[in-house]
Amino acid sequence: MAILKIGEKIEIENAVVLAPMEDVTELPFRLICKQYGADVLYSEFISSEALFRRVEKSIKKIYFDEQERPIGIQIFGANDEPMIESARLVEQFNPDFIDINYGCWVKNVVRNNAGAAMLKQPERMEELTRNVVKSVNLPVTVKTRLGWDKKSIVICDVAKRLEDAGISALAIHCRTREDAHKGEADWSWISKVKQVVSIPVILNGDVKSALDVKRAFDETGCDAVMIGRAAIGNPFIFRQAKEYLKTGNLIPPPTFYERVKVCLQHLKLNIQYKGERLGIIEFRKFYSGYLKNLPNASKVRSQLVVSDSYQQIEEILNNYIAYMEDLMDKRKFILHSQAEEIEDFEKFNSC
Ligand SMILES: Cc1cc2nc3c(=O)[nH]c(=O)nc-3n(C[C@H](O)[C@H](O)[C@H](O)COP(=O)(O)O)c2cc1C
Repeated sequence: MAILKIGEKIEIENAVVLAPMEDVTELPFRLICKQYGADVLYSEFISSEALFRRVEKSIKKIYFDEQERPIGIQIFGANDEPMIESARLVEQFNPDFIDINYGCWVKNVVRNNAGAAMLKQPERMEELTRNVVKSVNLPVTVKTRLGWDKKSIVICDVAKRLEDAGISALAIHCRTREDAHKGEADWSWISKVKQVVSIPVILNGDVKSALDVKRAFDETGCDAVMIGRAAIGNPFIFRQAKEYLKTGNLIPPPTFYERVKVCLQHLKLNIQYKGERLGIIEFRKFYSGYLKNLPNASKVRSQLVVSDSYQQIEEILNNYIAYMEDLMDKRKFILHSQAEEIEDFEKFNSC
């Protein structure tokens, strides 16, 4: 049984965690994932430089709801003063932990020596982390990658240094910075890291189903599993994973009624959080997840992404439900007729 322990307060068996994702793991989506069983949530990353300058938009990213606990607020940066000051600012909001991002691959971030760029200077990463850990009372965790590129995989060394610096848990996206999101995540590094540190190690990368979650625990001995892209428009993955870990039963996927209901619930929360215009525009990335693999989904999606009022979106989705019900009736009719034909055929043959 895996136990994720972060600081004094967080102790969770077989924890399945929502990954931090910019513009995705905002408060509304986090609440929905929590409702479906995500054990730990992270905020999207927040620039320490922006927090240091008290940029309102960045401060708003720290806000969370009490229902979200346990939650970590993630910051990134390369300089001591902004990182220390932003960690102190985050601490005033009293999340359960503060996470440092040393994994972001995007140019704007690594150009400033932050995110995954720190993988090129493990000593500096250790020093900066120690300085942040010393400055706050909350547990500090880190999320990083295996190394800068395949020729420089440094994760075991980095993990030891970060443990020495005082972090409480380490999440590893099992790719290099050069990989970005390409290729397959290499989970084999998790068990190697587990051999050199005693802090909890959270596996991340390419976990796409409840079966993957179980396989990740079984194959690597990780202390928790973190899911990113597979949860976008699919918060149901947490319910499926938790149930499978608990009972070994694979529960059926959500019905389209549930998908539409949760999609609208999520959209409403987004509108409450951001106002109608922005709430609707910024929700567009979620439709393909909520409608994935459903008949006629791309046509419905193309209508949804140009809609600009909640009523219009609700109407499109209600029409879609009617279309799906009609389709199911037709299928039932076809199956029923086929069954009757088979019965007739069997009767005929038995004469
Ligand atoms: C849209 C998007 C935004 C992301 N933003 C962040 C972020 O803010 N902080 C972070 O540590 N990782 C971020 N990531 C990386 C994810 O947390 C995760 O490490 C990566 O997607 C691999 O996990 P997955 O295969 O489960 O998606 C982001 C990924 C995506 C797709």
